[in-house]
Amino acid sequence: MDKTKEIVMSGIRPTGFLHLGNYFGAIRNYVKMQDEYECFFMVADLHSLTTHPDTKELKANVYRVLAENIACGLDPDKVALYCQSHLHETAELYLYLNMLAYKGELEKTATFKDKARMQPGNINAGLLTYPVLQTADILLHRAKYVPVGKDQEQHLEMARNFTNRFNHRYGEVFPEPVAFNYSNDLVKVPSLDGEGKMSKSENQMATLYLADDDELIRKKVMKAKTDSGPTENNSPKPAYIGNIFLLMNLVSSKDVIKKYEDDYNNCNIRYGDMKKQLAEDMVKFISPIREKVNSILQDEKYLQKVMGQGAEKARKSAEVTIKLVREAIGLNYF
Ligand code: TRP
Repeated sequence: MDKTKEIVMSGIRPTGFLHLGNYFGAIRNYVKMQDEYECFFMVADLHSLTTHPDTKELKANVYRVLAENIACGLDPDKVALYCQSHLHETAELYLYLNMLAYKGELEKTATFKDKARMQPGNINAGLLTYPVLQTADILLHRAKYVPVGKDQEQHLEMARNFTNRFNHRYGEVFPEPVAFNYSNDLVKVPSLDGEGKMSKSENQMATLYLADDDELIRKKVMKAKTDSGPTENNSPKPAYIGNIFLLMNLVSSKDVIKKYEDDYNNCNIRYGDMKKQLAEDMVKFISPIREKVNSILQDEKYLQKVMGQGAEKARKSAEVTIKLVREAIGLNYF
């Protein structure tokens, strides 16, 4: 443990099957952070119980998400890569923080309202206090930076409120956690259908997964929307064409990108060729990751070792925090 480094913590939902948007939006940031910060990356298996009470696929999903993150470059020897349910301390901190969270503010949370609408038959208290559990994850390591996407901004704001209330009432135990990303790397990965970003819930054929096989990658890329090409030199690009260039920027070489930019500006671009090139570059990018994921998944012992080692590192930091918290609250009887 390097005491001079600042602390980073983030949670990854075990929904399995990461896509290119997750890679460029999140994992690449994690991989960069692991050398500069003391990092705790956790698979949020407890959070998933708020929406997925059926746990038949939980273990396989947890394994997949671990394997995918490792295959993308997260090094379990550098970071604490662990599973939320392995730290009992999380439950204890969650309990204390629940006393500082008000029903009204929890009910106003956008994700709570969305999920309550989606599962009207199971609006459980865990769903309501989801942001409190997330705060416990973060504060358990007294983390300062939390690399998350825009969709988590409200949860982080709530985390800051709970943190400030704790510090106010019981003394300054925690730093105020803030969202953190290397701003330049927060690239948007556009969907292949010309609209919005790649996402799990939208059109599956417009999203490239790290698990897609080569043929499927080619098929998806070749289906991307194009037109008959520009008719005037140096015209602005329609959004769906701009998106193909954006994707090319992520995986193709500078020469290739320049060739197609020039072709576009000179009105002799052939989109069929461009998509073929993009498809091959995507295959070159994705297939080694996919193969690595598959080989890691073959080795359950290794994954168990990673989780065990991660939990051990995380527990060391959690134990210190819990001790500070108990003292601050006044639960130190002996
Ligand atoms: N709620 C986060 C998500 O949906 C996952 C998460 C759980 C998390 N605990 C966390 C993120 C702690 C950051 C910090 O993606």
